Amino acid sequence: MRKGLGVLAVLGVVVFVVGGALIYLFKSLGVKIEPLGDAFVVYRIETPEQPIEFPHYKHVKDVGLQCTYCHAYADKAVSPGIPPLEVCMGCHSVIATDKPEIKKLTEYWNKKEPVPWKHVNKLPDFVFFTHKRHVKAGVDCKACHGDLSTMTVAQRVKPLKMGWCLECHKDVNGYLKAHGLPPAKVDRAPTDCWTCHK
Ligand code: HEC
Ligand code: HEC
Ligand code: HEC
Ligand code: HEC
Ligand code: HEC
Repeated sequence: MRKGLGVLAVLGVVVFVVGGALIYLFKSLGVKIEPLGDAFVVYRIETPEQPIEFPHYKHVKDVGLQCTYCHAYADKAVSPGIPPLEVCMGCHSVIATDKPEIKKLTEYWNKKEPVPWKHVNKLPDFVFFTHKRHVKAGVDCKACHGDLSTMTVAQRVKPLKMGWCLECHKDVNGYLKAHGLPPAKVDRAPTDCWTCHK
């Protein structure tokens, strides 16, 4: 009897340690598990290596810039746009000019070359998506991109799968509420195939 209990206790500790180690490993690999409909989706948070370590948190949190200061077309077009170097140099021709990353930035500027930023979020070509409709309907950028005020370069934090789009479209404010975000102006968005597949 005693021995049985001892074995159980040892097993318990093993499960605890292995489970903890697995959770730690998943986290350190950026693996996320999220409920999606009746099932779960397992995916990785992607952080592409960018030519310049652009710190979102400094510009958003410390400097206090609005997203649209740099992503000017978020409420006007399909794509919010990546800011051209002119926007950066408006400040960095005088700010932090001695920092190595700003020296790199200045090099691109002097060569008149755009910074070759890599795509972080990218849908397949057969899917239609537009920022304008989402932003005008009051869907927070955080719902799809996470909290940029804590990130250096942008990370891909959502799986961008069809099930994810539909989960929100079916019950917009339910989805936003479950993720601790402010409500949008509409409760539902279209789920017909041709909304996203033209
Ligand atoms: C409104 C002014 C402003 C604009 C516009 C701006 N920045 Fe900055 N940036 C700052 C300030 C302020 C800091 C913090 C400087 C410091 O820590 O000394 C900073 C810091 C940085 C750093 C970190 C430097 C380091 O190593 O500490 C990088 C890289 C950077 N900016 C790149 C960019 C890029 C790329 C753009 C354009 C997409 C841009 N910035 C646009 C004001 C600006
Ligand atoms: C409903 C989800 C959703 C919301 C809300 C949203 N985005 Fe996006 N965003 C996406 C998706 C999906 C992509 C990839 C689009 C593609 O590949 O066609 C993307 C791409 C981008 C890109 C890359 C554009 C490019 O040209 O490469 C930027 C920048 C961006 N979003 C910024 C923002 C900002 C800023 C906001 C808030 C004002 C915002 N997004 C709100 C889903 C969203
Ligand atoms: C000072 C300019 C600046 C500001 C302010 C800024 N961004 Fe960015 N953003 C950039 C640059 C430069 C990149 C390209 C580097 C990268 O991917 O991190 C970028 C990339 C992104 C991407 C990834 C684009 C892709 O390829 O999918 C998203 C999403 C994004 N920003 C969202 C936001 C949101 C949301 C805010 C406001 C909370 C914001 N940004 C504020 C300059 C800015
Ligand atoms: C967090 C909630 C949310 C997510 C996630 C989301 N959407 Fe939406 N979507 C909305 C809302 C709200 C509207 C606006 C409906 C309106 O204006 O009546 C909308 C509208 C649209 C429209 C325009 C509909 C029309 O009538 O033409 C398209 C296209 C679209 N979404 C595609 C997508 C795709 C593709 C994805 C996934 C990659 C996605 N959405 C993810 C909430 C979301
Ligand atoms: C709100 C947007 C949205 C709606 C509505 C939507 N889809 Fe999709 N669909 C997507 C996105 C995003 C992808 C690409 C990502 C993926 O494969 O999940 C996709 C991918 C697909 C694929 C390719 C799957 C694969 O494995 O490559 C098919 C087939 C498809 N959709 C069919 C449909 C049909 C049929 C409907 C109507 C019943 C529909 N979709 C409605 C957003 C949508």
